[in-house]
Amino acid sequence: MTVLEALNWATDYLKDHGTENPRLNAELLLACSMRLSKEELYIRLPGQVREEERKTLEGLVQRRGSGEPLQYILGHQEFWSIDLKVDSRVLIPRPETEHLVEEALSILANISSKKNPSVLELGTGSGAIAISLAKEVKKIFLVATDLSGDALIVARENATQAGVSDKIGFVKGDLLQPFHQGETFDLILSNPPYIPDSEINGLAGEIKNHEPLIALQGGKDGLEVYRKLISQIPSYLKREGWLLLEIGSTQADSVSEMIGTEGHFQKPECVKDLAGIERVVKAKLKE
Ligand SMILES: C[S@@+](CC[C@H](N)C(=O)[O-])C[C@H]1O[C@@H](n2cnc3c(N)ncnc32)[C@H](O)[C@@H]1O
Repeated sequence: MTVLEALNWATDYLKDHGTENPRLNAELLLACSMRLSKEELYIRLPGQVREEERKTLEGLVQRRGSGEPLQYILGHQEFWSIDLKVDSRVLIPRPETEHLVEEALSILANISSKKNPSVLELGTGSGAIAISLAKEVKKIFLVATDLSGDALIVARENATQAGVSDKIGFVKGDLLQPFHQGETFDLILSNPPYIPDSEINGLAGEIKNHEPLIALQGGKDGLEVYRKLISQIPSYLKREGWLLLEIGSTQADSVSEMIGTEGHFQKPECVKDLAGIERVVKAKLKE
């Protein structure tokens, strides 16, 4: 079988199984099976595929055809230009979460007289957010938590791979439970689970059957984790500290209202993406 024939076979298989962008998926899976880049694959189109490469391709294409996310099969996902390892232990980091990183960087740049800011990320998953901040800010002290010990194993590996493991402490626990009163941070940020329980079933199979439910389920109204963390966070912020949260596309008003009602924060601000969708809510502690 030539490389071109293998590519056409994989494309047809994925098309028949309803995979979106079957050609691109086929290219990436074949390149992975042959340990080549996509560009190298195209130079080799007339060449032969070895038997073990064909078998590997068949396995990968079957997984993709049955709905497993491409990123889990390939084993990685780019976020903030960093190549992160991902598998079924962690949520695949989404491009919209880069807005949270942008906002965090702008807050950190404006924290007056802080040469070595301290930042806490709750629910780090693959480590995407904490690792991006550690790469961008020369002097920073980060703590990244997760309730899932499995996720923390992946996050630690990613931090090591990205060369920032000395800047991030990883801690297992439920929101702020691992921290003592008096342990305070300049910025606490999170992309918590925020899908209402009743909407989980309606999610695409790729998400609901493969990504960790603990990373998705936000309780009855999708706001349970926000409610808990907003009530806990004020005691863990330094003077003039910031809270920064990613939100679901319809949650800006509810989350802002929760922050307002809590009473310790100045008026929260929502940040929209380029399509005008509110993605992030930020609030500073009252003086
Ligand atoms: C939406 S995912 C975000 C992952 C990663 N920060 C990102 O943006 O790609 C939410 C993460 O929060 C973790 N999580 C859920 N409930 C938690 C809790 N009560 N305390 C700490 N982490 C929690 C999940 O395991 C998951 O890794």
